Amino acid sequence: NDVAAFQTTFLTWYDTNKRDLPWRQNHDPYLVWLSEVMLQQTQVQTVLPYFQRFTQALPNLTALAQVDETQLLKLWEGLGYYSRARNLKKAAQQLLADYDGQFPTTAAELENIIGIGPYTAGAIASIAFQQVVPAVDGNAYRVFSRLLADDFDISQSKARPHFAQVIQPLLPPQRPGDFNQAVMDLGASICTTKDPACLLCPIQAYCTSYQTGTQLDFPVKTKK
Ligand code: ADE
Repeated sequence: NDVAAFQTTFLTWYDTNKRDLPWRQNHDPYLVWLSEVMLQQTQVQTVLPYFQRFTQALPNLTALAQVDETQLLKLWEGLGYYSRARNLKKAAQQLLADYDGQFPTTAAELENIIGIGPYTAGAIASIAFQQVVPAVDGNAYRVFSRLLADDFDISQSKARPHFAQVIQPLLPPQRPGDFNQAVMDLGASICTTKDPACLLCPIQAYCTSYQTGTQLDFPVKTKK
């Protein structure tokens, strides 16, 4: 059917075109978590050298939980939003104290960890643990509002649960993490905010807004 064909097309594009990123080398939840936190407010190209340095200095939860403040802030210096770094350390301590040093595997449980919100929980659960859940960020708003010509206002606090519900039936149960990362790559390279490259888009044939020439009308955002 249409959903299966869409999934296959999108994942085949991802297999050929995915960015070769260090946190995609394996599914270690510690590395997935760290990369997602770094990428929250910072571009991939900026994050790359920080990720390498941080993971060499602090390769696991135990090392992070014990790092002193000075070294932690030095590793983060230049990334900004320093509360992210402080929360990482607090979360590492929480995971060791309350979870036996093992990340919980579901998005709902991951949201109980300090600093892990709904987006990060979905990303970790799908990428590290193959849970069939979406990772709903700005890329997902853009890609799926255009794909489905969905005019839900992304300024509203209900936008995230709305899009989570819309995306859920489109997730391929065998490869949810790759699907979510395909959305990130498409949103970064083709389905961009201002000048989307629809002629190059692997899922153009499935895109309702492209068919009607309304891609720039999505996502709908009433307030800035
Ligand atoms: N942006 C946020 N998470 C990402 C990921 N896992 N890969 C690439 N870009 C991202």
